[in-house]
Amino acid sequence: MMATRAPSSFEGTASRFEEQRERLTTYFDSTARKAWIDLTSDVKVSGIRATVRAGRDAMRETLLHWLPGDLRRTRVLDAGCGTGALSVLAARRGAEVLGVDVAGGLVAIAKERQPSFLGHGKIDWRVGDMLDPAHGRFDHVVAMDSLIHYRPEDIVATLVALADRCEHSMVFTFAPATPLLRAMHTTGKLFPRSDRAPAIVPVSETHLVRLLGEALPDWTVARSQRISSGFYISNALELVRG
Ligand SMILES: C[S@@+](CC[C@H](N)C(=O)[O-])C[C@H]1O[C@@H](n2cnc3c(N)ncnc32)[C@H](O)[C@@H]1O
Repeated sequence: MMATRAPSSFEGTASRFEEQRERLTTYFDSTARKAWIDLTSDVKVSGIRATVRAGRDAMRETLLHWLPGDLRRTRVLDAGCGTGALSVLAARRGAEVLGVDVAGGLVAIAKERQPSFLGHGKIDWRVGDMLDPAHGRFDHVVAMDSLIHYRPEDIVATLVALADRCEHSMVFTFAPATPLLRAMHTTGKLFPRSDRAPAIVPVSETHLVRLLGEALPDWTVARSQRISSGFYISNALELVRG
């Protein structure tokens, strides 16, 4: 059980967010743990997973490219860090990184994988909710594929909460509402809840950008980039203050 309060900018959002977060914790710490560890390593994976891995590598590069080249004296939140690949790359560029994930089993792998040359303290690994105010303030927030299971209202409320603690930019991904993702979403709903992974929620970019504009008037959508590779379809958005 997480003690952190969920976002509350939209009615009904808090409890929905908490329910989904609990499902994701169970899923990424048990059912999906091994597959996720393999996908984020160099081990050989099947053809489809290899395309997903390639897409995710391209997405990680895109998000990191949107951060300043020199990240020294910069604090970065890797929100939903999983096994920690993005945290490590940001720390290699000089950032002080806080990598947090609700799935303790994945954070344990992230700690194991941290290269020794980075030294202790360069990455602060935590198990818990990305919204915990105890994490402090950041220059940049990155959420790679960690909001794709939440509804658009919950994504926006999460970003509103994070914006209060972020100075410069928030980069994150959502699952764009393409016909393929919509079909997968509908098919997923045909299975009993116990048998399925928490569904990825396809989101219309126009709808999301409108919600963001209303909820975050001091922020601007600066860049958008879609990456499609096999079954991996994800869209990055960059929000900047001002
Ligand atoms: C699809 S994985 C992506 C992991 C990592 N960002 C990457 O790209 O390799 C989504 C991750 O988000 C985490 N997550 C989801 N909701 C979260 C929350 N509210 N707080 C912290 N982590 C969360 C999940 O546990 C999972 O590890």
